[in-house]
Amino acid sequence: MENKKEKIVIANWKMKLSLKETVELAKKMKSKFTGFKKGTVVVCPNFVSLAEVGKAIKGSPVKLGGQSVFWEELGAYTGEISANMLAEAGCEYVIVGHSERREYMLENYEMIHKKLKSVLNMDKLTPIVCIGENMNERKTDRRDFVLTHQLQQALGGISFLKNQEVIIAYEPIWAIGSGVAIEPAEAEYAHKIVKLTLNDLFGPQVAANNFRIVYGGSISSKNVKGFTDLENTDGLLVGGASLDAEEFYKVAKAMIK
Ligand code: PGA
Repeated sequence: MENKKEKIVIANWKMKLSLKETVELAKKMKSKFTGFKKGTVVVCPNFVSLAEVGKAIKGSPVKLGGQSVFWEELGAYTGEISANMLAEAGCEYVIVGHSERREYMLENYEMIHKKLKSVLNMDKLTPIVCIGENMNERKTDRRDFVLTHQLQQALGGISFLKNQEVIIAYEPIWAIGSGVAIEPAEAEYAHKIVKLTLNDLFGPQVAANNFRIVYGGSISSKNVKGFTDLENTDGLLVGGASLDAEEFYKVAKAMIK
């Protein structure tokens, strides 16, 4: 079956660039993508660069996203930023539960669930929820269980307003930053597991209409071709290769045809 969903390509700049470098990259993205009419292109800079990047990409089709969010709206939560604040800074998207935050900031299932719920309740941002198995889980044949479990924990009990969208990013942890993406067929298989789980959780209509499923982990212009025509792959989450405007443009152009 042909995949008719609008494709999305998301740049995750992590904590890899200074404010100056981030704004320079954003300006280059604007000039590359101006006139790019199809699909969705999102850049996720660090928090302190959001407002400047928002200005730099204004007038281009590139959209702004945050790399994380807190689950409360306002209050005594030192160091945190709410969904509303991200929206005020110009964000339309936000990454929730990236594996690096699970590892270094000890984000657990409950926190990820609360974050997702608050983002959907505030209804101003589209969440990009990251899931994926680690090497040990893969070696011991637990990938399918891990994906199902992570989705149940993040999304279970959530109800959607009409037309609300959630992006699920399947990122095998061991492939992130490794330089080697997984085989497209394997990503496609994992995305089918995601789809079946979403069917179970929300029914086929919501699963089909309210979700896009993307792959992330060492995508570059060299391997993107294998991911462009898959039935259950609606886009890509790109780290390293998104730090160069020309390289990211090549990835997006290949994916969003
Ligand atoms: P990578 O990162 O493309 O550098 O592997 C992807 C990610 O962590 O989102």
